[in-house]
Amino acid sequence: MDCLLIKGGYPLHGDVTISGAKNAVLPIMAATLLTGEPCVIRRVPNLSDVTFMGQILSSLGARVKFEGGVLEVCAARLNGVGDYDLIRKMRGSICILGPLLARLGKARVSLPGGCVIGSRPVDLHLKGLRSLGAKITIDGGYVVAKAPALTGADVFLGGRSGPTVLGTANVMMAATLAEGVTVIESAACEPEVTDLANFLNAMGARITGAGSPTITIVGVDELHGAEHEVIPDRIEAATFAIAAAATRGEIALHGARPEHFSAVLDKLREAGVKFERNGPVLTVKRGRSIKAVDVTTQPYAGFPTDAQAQMMVLLTRASGISIVTERIFESRFMHVSELARLGADIAIEGPNAIIKGGRPLSGAPIMASDLRASAALVIAGLVARGQTLVKRIYHLDRGYENIDEKLKKLGARIERVPET
Ligand code: EPZ
Repeated sequence: MDCLLIKGGYPLHGDVTISGAKNAVLPIMAATLLTGEPCVIRRVPNLSDVTFMGQILSSLGARVKFEGGVLEVCAARLNGVGDYDLIRKMRGSICILGPLLARLGKARVSLPGGCVIGSRPVDLHLKGLRSLGAKITIDGGYVVAKAPALTGADVFLGGRSGPTVLGTANVMMAATLAEGVTVIESAACEPEVTDLANFLNAMGARITGAGSPTITIVGVDELHGAEHEVIPDRIEAATFAIAAAATRGEIALHGARPEHFSAVLDKLREAGVKFERNGPVLTVKRGRSIKAVDVTTQPYAGFPTDAQAQMMVLLTRASGISIVTERIFESRFMHVSELARLGADIAIEGPNAIIKGGRPLSGAPIMASDLRASAALVIAGLVARGQTLVKRIYHLDRGYENIDEKLKKLGARIERVPET
């Protein structure tokens, strides 16, 4: 198993190109199951989650080819039962449920378990699909869904912590082939949902309102193949912007869409970080010092929970006390104890993390627990004096394409080493 060995204290400088968005490409891959015709997806990041999803589509009978950032999928012949273990391993794969049900009238998909960041139920997904007329039972760890024909309906998808991203995606995809009109209220507004709707419309769907809390889908008889280029990854862009500020560096982000992570940029600006827009290039540079700020994670367009851990590392550099409040997932502070190993002073009180900034960090062996926590630990290693060894970086490879190569090009002293 690989680790990352980092020698900290070197400001990051230079240019980085942002890859395609993991959280857009996964539901888009699921959407290819809605047609028997070939689909071509571009700017697909080379991530283990993408490979997994490709294997899941193959296990369902689809032909999948992935080369040089271009993914070709043809789901001409399908069976409704995917690989139990593969699906169970990757939560995001739950979004094959809607497309399979709509295309085949039946689906048997393993129920995703919880994960370290929270219990992550799928009750809203099932509620939405039941509203379209599906009969759904849980049997032997599987979600078993049947619906000879789906019928459009009004669906309210708001939950205790707001809308659900993949729940919105699942219901929206199923509704494309339902009889009549579906209106999703309290829909997720994330750019990844809009990107999925754009792909579905390119396949012949009739979706309006994506990106707003009310999405309307007029069902059609069938969908056809289509080509699509995935949006850039706003969380990868936010991660590099935070790394630039935390290491006192200056990075030019190429291919990012700043409007997709404006809440992060707003908080960075409040903390004293400077930005320069030069056409499509956004340059991030640290101001004289980092000011303490309070951050609360929210559904889009609020501050994304997927950038919370990385932002916490920056706030350990701030002069003063910052409070980070996690409102989306109930246990997304796994990185705090590892940051404490580097010398950070962070106390947790319920959904709040109280960060006393300004203490120098010093390198140590630390362990990643999930995707975004691992990105935060890498930034902490870049800041800390001496050497940091980040273990279990398979989490990182799930969502960041060649991050160590990209960081090396920015002057980081970082290398992938086998775990001893
Ligand atoms: C997506 O997960 C992302 N994953 C997550 O990114 C991201 O953190 C999350 O949205 C929130 O922005 C992908 O797109 C693959 P949710 P999703 O359903 O759709 C509760 C990363 O780091 N809920 O919007 O699974 C749920 O427990 C990952 O890239 C229900 O209660 O998240 C949570 O508290 C991590 N019932 C809240 O809603 C449901 O049926 C939001 O979850 C569904 C969700």
